[in-house]
Amino acid sequence: MSVDQDKVVRPELFDFHGVSMSHYFTDNWENIQNFKARPDDILIATYPKAGTTWASYILDLLYFGQTAPERQTSIPIYTRVPFLEIAVPSMDSGKQLADKLPTTPRLIKTHFPVQFVPKSFWEQNCKIVYIARNAKDNMVSYFHFDRMNMIQPEPGDWSSFHRRFMEGKMVFGSWYDHVSGWWKKKQTYSKLHYIFYEDMVEDTRGEIDKLCSFLGLSPSVEEKDRITGGVSFDNMKKNNMTNYSTIQVMDFKISPFMRKGKVGDWKNHFTVAQNEEFDEDYKKKMKDSTLQFRTEL
Ligand code: A3P
Repeated sequence: MSVDQDKVVRPELFDFHGVSMSHYFTDNWENIQNFKARPDDILIATYPKAGTTWASYILDLLYFGQTAPERQTSIPIYTRVPFLEIAVPSMDSGKQLADKLPTTPRLIKTHFPVQFVPKSFWEQNCKIVYIARNAKDNMVSYFHFDRMNMIQPEPGDWSSFHRRFMEGKMVFGSWYDHVSGWWKKKQTYSKLHYIFYEDMVEDTRGEIDKLCSFLGLSPSVEEKDRITGGVSFDNMKKNNMTNYSTIQVMDFKISPFMRKGKVGDWKNHFTVAQNEEFDEDYKKKMKDSTLQFRTEL
């Protein structure tokens, strides 16, 4: 993807309807809010760094792996599954890409907290797949991502990032509000399938089976085996269509997009004091939620 590097500068965070955001994801707000969803659109929703690309690739293979194999070798995943709210100068906006998608269904990605999702998705009763990842690993992954991605705010050092994450001062706001808001929505909106990243790592095939039953798909055993193999961390890291190596705003010399793909990498980053502080704060913030995460397998 070619972008005009001069026009791409690291943004500042600001408060947007009560959520900390950067302008790259709010500049196109009116157009996005007026997005016309179709009943068969499928929305993939996540807090950043929870496994969006993994889920996008699985869904893309489930729907189009056999009928349109050339897509897999020629179109990067971020074009096949547009990022609805992104608006970066000299790049097609996510909405433009979504409007141009030739496929049925259209697979569309968002990092919006639930209250920002364009109302048309709810009116059309679209299927939604939400992926959540435990806060500690999500934080670590987000830190390395902000280091290497020039359209993200400066991450600062690890200890200030750790604090800011707990304060919810991240692009797309508070992790705690995001995962809890979507979890609450699941209680009233039946077409929402909530997946945990840790379950995907532990049993990718089992999670693909559950996803298929949610989507009403019944691929053959061979096809499911093929998809499970294709979406492994090592294969996605090698695959130029899924590893983001074709995008210019990311500096892989700082950190690769496909970084580790593990549960528990937080132990290599959190100090004992940071972990205690985090756990105490977590209990308070999540006390009203029934959500349970695993931070190790
Ligand atoms: P790490 O930085 O911990 O390695 P997103 O797609 O939402 O930006 O999430 C990126 C995170 O998901 C990265 O985490 C990336 O390595 C991980 N990921 C992507 N594909 C994966 C896979 N096939 N298996 C495990 N983790 C994967």
